[in-house]
Amino acid sequence: MAFKPGDAIYPKDENGKIIYHETDLCATWEAMEACKDAGLAKSIGVSNFNRRQLEMILNKPGLKYKPVSNQVECHPYFTQPKLLEFCRQHDIVIVGYSPLGTSRDETWVNVSSPPLLKDPVLNAIGKKYNKTAAQVALRFSIQRGVVVIPKSFNPQRIKENFQIFDFSLTEKEMKEIEALNKNVRYVELLMWRDHPEYPFSDEY
Ligand code: A2P
Repeated sequence: MAFKPGDAIYPKDENGKIIYHETDLCATWEAMEACKDAGLAKSIGVSNFNRRQLEMILNKPGLKYKPVSNQVECHPYFTQPKLLEFCRQHDIVIVGYSPLGTSRDETWVNVSSPPLLKDPVLNAIGKKYNKTAAQVALRFSIQRGVVVIPKSFNPQRIKENFQIFDFSLTEKEMKEIEALNKNVRYVELLMWRDHPEYPFSDEY
């Protein structure tokens, strides 16, 4: 979603309304392809693209490089089954942001969805493996082929978030965790919902 170019990242008019700019995702993608050709990027991908937007790039006449990844919200409460399947079919890796359910900062997080790491199923499974709910959530994602980018300011927890390669979840546990999906986003970006390319109005 593009905003009016200038000094302000999120420019606003006198009524406090964000000023958008013409957003041409295909033209932007061509510029990113040029960055790759110029050696400025190894690989190029997208973020928060829905299926329609991905198809627009994939079907673009003269497409030079496909997006290698689509970075979207993904975790046990928002498992993205349809987008994940679509991306699998097109060899696009899903990179899951907020894999631990966010910091629950009310200025940008939809806190009507409950705290992920308090979930009883994640905690019970964690107990079995001597792991935390956070580790179970991360393991669940990587085990279904979703890259995770957990955030922490705490050295202990940063280390903890790496300790997910010495255990694996059974198929039954994977299904139990998949069933936690609430189809509710923590990150809705509602302040931009009237932007022509706002991605979250479509089903996926
Ligand atoms: P902190 O920085 O104090 O560790 P997400 O990656 O989904 O955006 O979640 C980030 C939030 O999760 C932060 O509030 C972070 O707090 C917390 N967090 C990160 N790792 C862990 C962990 N292993 N256990 C519990 N909370 C964690």
